[in-house]
Amino acid sequence: MTNQPLLQVENLTKIFVSGLINVITVTAVKEASFAINEGEVVSLVGESGSGKSTTANIILKLLYPTSGRVLLQGEDIFSIQKRTDFYKKVQVVFQDPYASFNLVYKIDRVLYNAFNLREGHYSDPEKKEIIIETLSKIGLNANEVLGRYPHQLSGGQLQRFLLARVLIIKPLLLIADEPTSMIDASSRAGILNLIEELRKRENFSVLFITHDIAQAQYISSKVCVMKDGEIVEKGLTESVFGNPQHSYTRDLLESVPDLYSRWEL
Ligand SMILES: Nc1ncnc2c1ncn2[C@@H]1O[C@H](COP(=O)(O)OP(=O)(O)O)[C@@H](O)[C@H]1O
Ligand SMILES: [Mg+2]
Repeated sequence: MTNQPLLQVENLTKIFVSGLINVITVTAVKEASFAINEGEVVSLVGESGSGKSTTANIILKLLYPTSGRVLLQGEDIFSIQKRTDFYKKVQVVFQDPYASFNLVYKIDRVLYNAFNLREGHYSDPEKKEIIIETLSKIGLNANEVLGRYPHQLSGGQLQRFLLARVLIIKPLLLIADEPTSMIDASSRAGILNLIEELRKRENFSVLFITHDIAQAQYISSKVCVMKDGEIVEKGLTESVFGNPQHSYTRDLLESVPDLYSRWEL
């Protein structure tokens, strides 16, 4: 193996077409290219509507691109036929934790089902043991959360629970699409630190999507700045934010005057 990136996004474009009589087209993503290496955290930063989730949803094979390619370990993701082969390797935590659960079932089901995407075969007692161990790694007490329904837990607890699901699956890439924006401000730093801690321990890569430049700066080694579907600037986090080349990046930085007081002394 050469040291090819884990994920390569090449000239990705997505045009949404809607309406029958008055046809409206929206270019949500325009010729976006970036790569993620093994074990690396890359942030995709931009305002609401800039095309971040569309990019994520294409990488997750939830949407087809209009043009361009996404390669995982050098292979075009749209030529991977077997669903489970792909979702063993690429996993996601979405913005709204409640949306990931079927409200009718106890949350336990989500973790038991995760074993369908994990290598190997496990008996029910083995699964239970792994689940309890994983929940403790994630800072959740199994006795307090197992047997509950989604609405009985807070958004922050559910996001942690969904990170436990990711840990059971052990993917190569985690896509986190604004994972803290719908949870209490008081739980946000905890989720961010947890993602970073798990990444270090398990050595997966992360595509971290946020509109919050401070979070991007905190968690990622590289950033891509997205505006109106285009990546206007990308590179090492320190250099992009330390010496922004694009006026939009400077605008974003200026709109967060307390950036340094929030994250640095
Ligand atoms: N299914 C869709 N149909 C039509 N337009 C869409 C669809 N999904 C997203 N868009 C549009 O694409 C643009 C980018 O949206 P999105 O990727 O959700 O941005 P972000 O995640 O950065 O807020 C927006 O203008 C949005 O309205
Ligand atoms: Mg979004």
